Amino acid sequence: MERIAIYPGSFDPVTNGHLDIIKRGVKLFDTIIVAILINPRKTGLFTVEERLDMLNETLKDIPHVRAESFEGLLVDFAAQKSATAILRGLRAVSDFEYEFQMALMNRKLNREIQSVYLMTGLRWIFTSSSIIKEAALFGGDINGMVPPCVKKRLEEKLGKKLG
Ligand code: COA
Repeated sequence: MERIAIYPGSFDPVTNGHLDIIKRGVKLFDTIIVAILINPRKTGLFTVEERLDMLNETLKDIPHVRAESFEGLLVDFAAQKSATAILRGLRAVSDFEYEFQMALMNRKLNREIQSVYLMTGLRWIFTSSSIIKEAALFGGDINGMVPPCVKKRLEEKLGKKLG
């Protein structure tokens, strides 16, 4: 049986921290579907289409990983894709409570889908899409924190050259 995992999130935009989880996760699963939540309550810097474009560009050389977007319940999307796991990264203790709550709720909603957590690499413990966007907004050096195509898109979006 093919072991499919969903790696869900906002990915506004994808960062090297996410990429670290994806590259390690693909060693555990046959296929990973990186799933962007279409969330009307969270307005992003990038549209869902732009985020999908950046993910497709970033993931093009990683076999068995693809990106999609979804609406509604994560467990329903996972079931629709015949996935048996939800993959998430844990950065710090502060992530734990939220992730624990989400994992328990998802388990309540569908007991066939397991939540699997990977500890984020030390290098990425402080990163998030928002903090990188904020650094970029004020012209900070974000080299090594995001894939090159994301840096280019941020430069276009913010109308400035980043270090
Ligand atoms: N490296 C760097 N940053 C990371 C990271 C990593 N490994 N893992 C998470 N982050 C950052 C993200 O960049 C994001 O930063 P931001 O807030 O600055 O944008 C932040 O952590 C939050 O992570 P994200 O993975 O985007 O979570 P989310 O809270 O936006 O979304 C979903 C979580 C999509 C999984 C969840 O909302 C969901 O499943 N929704 C569907 C509805 C549903 O089923 N609800 C019931 C389940 S409880």
